[in-house]
Amino acid sequence: MKRVLFNVASAVLLILAFGPGLALAKDKIVLGFSQVGAESEWRTANTQSIKDAAAKEGITLKFSDAQQKQENQIKAIRSFIAQRVDVIAFSPVVETGWEPVLREAKRAGIPVVLTDRSVSVKDESLWVSFLGSDFVEEGRRAAKWLVDYAPVKELAAKGEVNIVELQGTVGSAPAIDRKKGFEEILKNQPKFKIIRSQTGDFTRAKGKEVMEAFLKAEGKKINVLYAHNDDMAIGAIQAIEEAGLKPGKDIVIVSIDAVKGAFEAMIAGKLNCSVECSPLLGPQLMSIVKDVVAGKPVPRRIVTEEGVFPQETAAKEFPNRKY
Ligand code: AHR
Repeated sequence: MKRVLFNVASAVLLILAFGPGLALAKDKIVLGFSQVGAESEWRTANTQSIKDAAAKEGITLKFSDAQQKQENQIKAIRSFIAQRVDVIAFSPVVETGWEPVLREAKRAGIPVVLTDRSVSVKDESLWVSFLGSDFVEEGRRAAKWLVDYAPVKELAAKGEVNIVELQGTVGSAPAIDRKKGFEEILKNQPKFKIIRSQTGDFTRAKGKEVMEAFLKAEGKKINVLYAHNDDMAIGAIQAIEEAGLKPGKDIVIVSIDAVKGAFEAMIAGKLNCSVECSPLLGPQLMSIVKDVVAGKPVPRRIVTEEGVFPQETAAKEFPNRKY
Protein backbone atom coordinates (compact mmCIF):
# COMPACT_ATOMS: atom_id res chain seq x y z
CA MET A 1 0.00 0.00 0.00
CA LYS A 2 2.83 2.35 1.01
CA ARG A 3 4.59 1.61 -2.30
CA VAL A 4 1.42 2.33 -4.34
CA LEU A 5 0.99 5.68 -2.57
CA PHE A 6 4.65 6.46 -3.20
CA ASN A 7 4.33 5.66 -6.95
CA VAL A 8 1.18 7.76 -7.27
CA ALA A 9 2.93 10.63 -5.48
CA SER A 10 5.96 10.47 -7.78
CA ALA A 11 3.75 10.34 -10.89
CA VAL A 12 1.89 13.44 -9.67
CA LEU A 13 5.22 15.22 -9.06
CA LEU A 14 6.38 14.31 -12.59
CA ILE A 15 3.16 15.62 -14.11
CA LEU A 16 3.46 18.85 -12.12
CA ALA A 17 7.07 19.28 -13.15
CA PHE A 18 6.88 18.41 -16.88
CA GLY A 19 3.16 18.61 -17.77
CA PRO A 20 0.75 15.70 -18.26
CA GLY A 21 1.69 15.10 -21.94
CA LEU A 22 5.31 14.32 -21.21
CA ALA A 23 4.70 12.11 -18.19
CA LEU A 24 2.23 9.98 -20.15
CA ALA A 25 4.09 10.00 -23.46
CA LYS A 26 7.38 8.82 -21.95
CA ASP A 27 6.39 5.15 -21.66
CA LYS A 28 4.77 4.85 -25.14
CA ILE A 29 6.92 4.46 -28.23
CA VAL A 30 5.81 6.63 -31.14
CA LEU A 31 6.44 5.17 -34.60
CA GLY A 32 5.97 7.17 -37.80
CA PHE A 33 5.23 4.85 -40.72
CA SER A 34 5.05 5.94 -44.35
CA GLN A 35 3.29 3.36 -46.50
CA VAL A 36 3.58 3.12 -50.31
CA GLY A 37 -0.17 3.23 -50.93
CA ALA A 38 -3.03 0.77 -51.37
CA GLU A 39 -2.13 -0.45 -54.86
CA SER A 40 -2.54 -4.19 -54.28
CA GLU A 41 -4.07 -6.93 -52.15
CA TRP A 42 -0.53 -7.44 -50.78
CA ARG A 43 -0.25 -3.81 -49.68
CA THR A 44 -3.62 -3.88 -47.88
CA ALA A 45 -2.52 -6.96 -45.94
CA ASN A 46 0.83 -5.31 -45.13
CA THR A 47 -0.90 -2.19 -43.77
CA GLN A 48 -3.23 -4.30 -41.64
CA SER A 49 -0.34 -6.35 -40.29
CA ILE A 50 1.52 -3.17 -39.25
CA LYS A 51 -1.54 -1.57 -37.64
CA ASP A 52 -2.46 -4.76 -35.75
CA ALA A 53 1.08 -5.35 -34.50
CA ALA A 54 1.47 -1.73 -33.31
CA ALA A 55 -1.81 -1.95 -31.40
CA LYS A 56 -0.80 -5.29 -29.87
CA GLU A 57 2.55 -3.91 -28.70
CA GLY A 58 1.06 -0.65 -27.38
CA ILE A 59 3.08 1.39 -29.87
CA THR A 60 1.54 4.67 -31.02
CA LEU A 61 1.47 4.51 -34.81
CA LYS A 62 1.41 7.62 -36.95
CA PHE A 63 0.43 6.15 -40.31
CA SER A 64 0.66 7.95 -43.62
CA ASP A 65 -0.41 6.65 -47.07
CA ALA A 66 1.77 8.05 -49.91
CA GLN A 67 -0.57 7.02 -52.74
CA GLN A 68 2.40 5.65 -54.70
CA LYS A 69 4.18 9.03 -54.77
CA GLN A 70 7.72 9.59 -53.51
CA GLU A 71 7.05 13.29 -52.82
CA ASN A 72 4.26 12.31 -50.41
CA GLN A 73 6.62 9.95 -48.58
CA ILE A 74 9.25 12.68 -48.26
CA LYS A 75 6.59 15.05 -46.84
CA ALA A 76 5.44 12.38 -44.37
CA ILE A 77 8.99 11.69 -43.18
CA ARG A 78 9.60 15.43 -42.69
CA SER A 79 6.41 15.69 -40.68
CA PHE A 80 7.48 12.72 -38.50
CA ILE A 81 10.79 14.51 -37.88
CA ALA A 82 8.94 17.70 -36.91
CA GLN A 83 6.75 15.69 -34.54
CA ARG A 84 9.87 14.14 -32.99
CA VAL A 85 8.67 10.52 -33.25
CA ASP A 86 10.93 7.88 -31.67
CA VAL A 87 11.44 5.81 -34.85
CA ILE A 88 10.58 6.30 -38.53
CA ALA A 89 9.82 3.24 -40.67
CA PHE A 90 8.90 3.27 -44.32
CA SER A 91 8.49 1.17 -47.41
CA PRO A 92 10.04 3.29 -50.18
CA VAL A 93 8.02 3.64 -53.40
CA VAL A 94 11.24 3.82 -55.42
CA GLU A 95 14.89 3.05 -54.62
CA THR A 96 16.63 6.36 -55.28
CA GLY A 97 16.37 9.97 -54.12
CA TRP A 98 16.28 9.46 -50.36
CA GLU A 99 19.60 10.96 -49.17
CA PRO A 100 18.43 14.49 -48.25
CA VAL A 101 15.43 13.48 -46.16
CA LEU A 102 17.25 10.56 -44.50
CA ARG A 103 20.10 12.93 -43.58
CA GLU A 104 17.53 15.20 -41.95
CA ALA A 105 16.24 12.27 -39.88
CA LYS A 106 19.77 11.33 -38.89
CA ARG A 107 20.57 14.92 -37.86
CA ALA A 108 17.43 14.90 -35.71
CA GLY A 109 18.65 11.67 -34.07
CA ILE A 110 15.66 9.61 -35.28
CA PRO A 111 16.52 6.07 -36.39
CA VAL A 112 15.03 4.85 -39.68
CA VAL A 113 13.93 1.27 -40.34
CA LEU A 114 13.23 0.10 -43.90
CA THR A 115 10.45 -2.42 -44.40
CA ASP A 116 9.47 -4.41 -47.49
CA ARG A 117 11.56 -2.35 -49.97
CA SER A 118 15.06 -0.97 -49.70
CA VAL A 119 16.70 2.29 -50.76
CA SER A 120 19.84 2.87 -52.77
CA VAL A 121 21.98 5.39 -50.83
CA LYS A 122 25.76 5.82 -50.61
CA ASP A 123 25.75 6.46 -46.86
CA GLU A 124 24.43 3.24 -45.37
CA SER A 125 24.38 4.74 -41.88
CA LEU A 126 21.19 6.56 -42.91
CA TRP A 127 19.11 3.54 -41.93
CA VAL A 128 19.50 1.00 -39.13
CA SER A 129 17.73 -2.12 -40.32
CA PHE A 130 15.97 -3.53 -43.39
CA LEU A 131 13.21 -6.10 -43.00
CA GLY A 132 11.71 -7.67 -46.12
CA SER A 133 11.83 -10.23 -48.91
CA ASP A 134 14.68 -11.11 -51.24
CA PHE A 135 13.08 -9.88 -54.47
CA VAL A 136 15.90 -11.15 -56.72
CA GLU A 137 15.34 -14.63 -55.32
CA GLU A 138 11.59 -14.33 -55.97
CA GLY A 139 12.34 -13.58 -59.64
CA ARG A 140 14.68 -16.58 -59.78
CA ARG A 141 12.02 -18.80 -58.23
CA ALA A 142 9.43 -17.74 -60.81
CA ALA A 143 11.86 -18.51 -63.67
CA LYS A 144 12.99 -21.83 -62.18
CA TRP A 145 9.40 -22.94 -61.80
CA LEU A 146 8.69 -21.89 -65.41
CA VAL A 147 11.55 -23.76 -67.06
CA ASP A 148 10.61 -26.89 -65.12
CA TYR A 149 6.88 -26.73 -65.89
CA ALA A 150 6.07 -29.73 -68.11
CA PRO A 151 3.84 -27.98 -70.73
CA VAL A 152 6.47 -25.23 -71.11
CA LYS A 153 9.26 -27.82 -71.38
CA GLU A 154 7.30 -29.43 -74.23
CA LEU A 155 6.97 -26.04 -75.95
CA ALA A 156 10.71 -25.39 -75.55
CA ALA A 157 11.48 -28.80 -77.04
CA LYS A 158 9.55 -27.84 -80.19
CA GLY A 159 10.56 -24.18 -80.55
CA GLU A 160 10.70 -20.85 -78.77
CA VAL A 161 8.85 -19.86 -75.61
CA ASN A 162 7.58 -16.30 -75.96
CA ILE A 163 7.18 -14.46 -72.67
CA VAL A 164 5.52 -11.14 -71.91
CA GLU A 165 6.43 -9.41 -68.68
CA LEU A 166 4.32 -7.08 -66.55
CA GLN A 167 6.76 -5.09 -64.45
CA GLY A 168 6.00 -3.43 -61.13
CA THR A 169 6.34 0.30 -60.45
CA VAL A 170 9.21 1.82 -62.42
CA GLY A 171 12.25 2.36 -60.20
CA SER A 172 10.89 0.30 -57.30
CA ALA A 173 13.09 -2.36 -55.70
CA PRO A 174 10.69 -5.27 -56.41
CA ALA A 175 10.37 -4.31 -60.10
CA ILE A 176 14.14 -4.00 -60.56
CA ASP A 177 15.03 -7.12 -58.59
CA ARG A 178 12.29 -9.43 -59.81
CA LYS A 179 13.27 -8.65 -63.39
CA LYS A 180 16.92 -9.24 -62.58
CA GLY A 181 16.35 -12.60 -60.84
CA PHE A 182 14.06 -13.86 -63.63
CA GLU A 183 16.50 -12.89 -66.39
CA GLU A 184 19.44 -14.38 -64.48
CA ILE A 185 17.88 -17.85 -64.77
CA LEU A 186 16.66 -17.38 -68.33
CA LYS A 187 20.02 -16.28 -69.69
CA ASN A 188 21.01 -19.95 -69.71
CA GLN A 189 17.80 -20.89 -71.56
CA PRO A 190 18.18 -19.77 -75.20
CA LYS A 191 14.66 -20.95 -76.13
CA PHE A 192 13.01 -18.55 -73.63
CA LYS A 193 12.50 -15.03 -75.01
CA ILE A 194 10.98 -11.99 -73.31
CA ILE A 195 9.21 -10.43 -76.30
CA ARG A 196 7.46 -7.55 -74.48
CA SER A 197 8.04 -5.97 -71.09
CA GLN A 198 6.18 -3.00 -69.65
CA THR A 199 5.11 -1.60 -66.29
CA GLY A 200 1.64 -2.28 -64.93
CA ASP A 201 2.41 -0.32 -61.74
CA PHE A 202 1.47 -3.28 -59.50
CA THR A 203 -2.28 -2.64 -60.04
CA ARG A 204 -5.06 -4.79 -61.52
CA ALA A 205 -6.34 -1.99 -63.76
CA LYS A 206 -2.93 -1.32 -65.28
CA GLY A 207 -2.16 -5.04 -65.55
CA LYS A 208 -5.31 -5.48 -67.62
CA GLU A 209 -4.63 -2.43 -69.79
CA VAL A 210 -1.04 -3.42 -70.61
CA MET A 211 -1.98 -7.06 -71.25
CA GLU A 212 -4.61 -5.85 -73.73
CA ALA A 213 -1.85 -3.96 -75.55
CA PHE A 214 0.45 -7.03 -75.48
CA LEU A 215 -2.35 -9.17 -76.94
CA LYS A 216 -3.07 -6.62 -79.64
CA ALA A 217 0.59 -6.49 -80.64
CA GLU A 218 1.55 -10.16 -80.30
CA GLY A 219 -1.75 -12.12 -80.25
CA LYS A 220 -1.38 -15.89 -80.18
CA LYS A 221 2.41 -15.63 -80.24
CA ILE A 222 2.34 -15.17 -76.44
CA ASN A 223 3.03 -18.41 -74.56
CA VAL A 224 3.78 -17.11 -71.07
CA LEU A 225 2.95 -14.15 -68.85
CA TYR A 226 5.35 -13.28 -66.03
CA ALA A 227 3.74 -10.67 -63.74
CA HIS A 228 5.71 -9.01 -60.94
CA ASN A 229 2.66 -9.30 -58.70
CA ASP A 230 -0.62 -11.23 -58.46
CA ASP A 231 -2.83 -8.17 -58.89
CA MET A 232 -1.41 -7.42 -62.35
CA ALA A 233 -1.78 -11.12 -63.24
CA ILE A 234 -5.43 -11.05 -62.15
CA GLY A 235 -6.05 -7.94 -64.28
CA ALA A 236 -4.28 -9.63 -67.21
CA ILE A 237 -6.41 -12.79 -66.81
CA GLN A 238 -9.47 -10.66 -67.53
CA ALA A 239 -7.82 -9.23 -70.66
CA ILE A 240 -6.86 -12.73 -71.85
CA GLU A 241 -10.42 -13.99 -71.36
CA GLU A 242 -11.87 -10.98 -73.15
CA ALA A 243 -9.54 -11.76 -76.06
CA GLY A 244 -11.16 -15.20 -76.27
CA LEU A 245 -8.15 -17.11 -74.88
CA LYS A 246 -7.86 -19.39 -71.87
CA PRO A 247 -5.57 -18.02 -69.11
CA GLY A 248 -3.53 -20.81 -67.51
CA LYS A 249 -3.83 -22.94 -70.68
CA ASP A 250 -3.33 -20.90 -73.85
CA ILE A 251 -1.06 -18.60 -71.87
CA VAL A 252 0.87 -19.96 -68.88
CA ILE A 253 0.91 -17.43 -66.03
CA VAL A 254 3.38 -17.10 -63.18
CA SER A 255 3.24 -14.20 -60.72
CA ILE A 256 4.46 -13.13 -57.30
CA ASP A 257 2.88 -12.55 -53.84
CA ALA A 258 0.65 -15.62 -53.23
CA VAL A 259 -2.31 -13.53 -52.03
CA LYS A 260 -5.74 -15.14 -51.62
CA GLY A 261 -6.90 -13.75 -54.99
CA ALA A 262 -4.07 -15.68 -56.65
CA PHE A 263 -5.11 -18.89 -54.90
CA GLU A 264 -8.67 -18.42 -56.13
CA ALA A 265 -7.37 -17.91 -59.67
CA MET A 266 -5.19 -21.03 -59.36
CA ILE A 267 -8.10 -23.11 -58.05
CA ALA A 268 -10.13 -21.90 -61.06
CA GLY A 269 -7.27 -23.08 -63.31
CA LYS A 270 -6.48 -19.55 -64.59
CA LEU A 271 -3.11 -18.96 -62.91
CA ASN A 272 -0.34 -21.56 -62.94
CA CYS A 273 1.97 -20.55 -60.11
CA SER A 274 2.43 -17.85 -57.50
CA VAL A 275 5.75 -17.22 -55.76
CA GLU A 276 5.27 -16.12 -52.19
CA CYS A 277 6.13 -12.63 -50.91
CA SER A 278 4.88 -12.23 -47.36
CA PRO A 279 3.31 -8.91 -46.32
CA LEU A 280 2.96 -10.00 -42.67
CA LEU A 281 5.88 -7.86 -41.50
CA GLY A 282 4.14 -6.08 -38.60
CA PRO A 283 5.25 -8.24 -35.64
CA GLN A 284 8.93 -8.31 -36.71
CA LEU A 285 8.87 -4.57 -37.40
CA MET A 286 7.53 -3.79 -33.91
CA SER A 287 10.17 -5.97 -32.32
CA ILE A 288 12.92 -4.09 -34.23
CA VAL A 289 11.38 -0.76 -33.21
CA LYS A 290 11.31 -1.75 -29.53
CA ASP A 291 14.94 -2.91 -29.66
CA VAL A 292 16.08 0.28 -31.40
CA VAL A 293 14.37 2.42 -28.74
CA ALA A 294 15.88 0.26 -25.98
CA GLY A 295 19.33 0.82 -27.50
CA LYS A 296 19.78 -2.88 -28.30
CA PRO A 297 21.67 -3.94 -31.45
CA VAL A 298 19.39 -4.88 -34.36
CA PRO A 299 20.20 -6.98 -37.45
CA ARG A 300 21.06 -4.91 -40.55
CA ARG A 301 19.02 -7.24 -42.75
CA ILE A 302 16.19 -9.64 -41.98
CA VAL A 303 15.05 -11.71 -44.97
CA THR A 304 11.48 -13.01 -44.93
CA GLU A 305 11.03 -16.77 -45.38
CA GLU A 306 8.86 -17.66 -48.36
CA GLY A 307 7.72 -20.54 -50.59
CA VAL A 308 6.45 -21.27 -54.10
CA PHE A 309 2.86 -22.35 -54.78
CA PRO A 310 2.16 -24.11 -58.08
CA GLN A 311 -1.49 -24.51 -59.12
CA GLU A 312 -1.70 -28.14 -57.98
CA THR A 313 -0.99 -27.14 -54.34
CA ALA A 314 -3.56 -24.31 -54.27
CA ALA A 315 -6.71 -26.08 -53.06
CA LYS A 316 -4.88 -27.73 -50.15
CA GLU A 317 -3.02 -24.53 -49.16
CA PHE A 318 -5.90 -22.09 -49.52
CA PRO A 319 -7.46 -22.64 -46.05
CA ASN A 320 -4.07 -21.87 -44.43
CA ARG A 321 -3.55 -18.55 -46.18
CA LYS A 322 -3.61 -15.50 -43.92
CA TYR A 323 -3.65 -12.82 -46.61
O1 AHR B 1 6.96 -4.36 -52.42
C1 AHR B 1 6.14 -5.48 -52.48
C2 AHR B 1 5.27 -5.42 -53.69
O2 AHR B 1 4.51 -4.23 -53.67
C3 AHR B 1 4.26 -6.52 -53.81
O3 AHR B 1 4.69 -7.61 -54.53
C4 AHR B 1 3.20 -5.84 -54.60
O4 AHR B 1 2.00 -6.55 -54.68
C5 AHR B 1 3.14 -4.56 -53.91
O5 AHR B 1 2.39 -3.59 -54.44
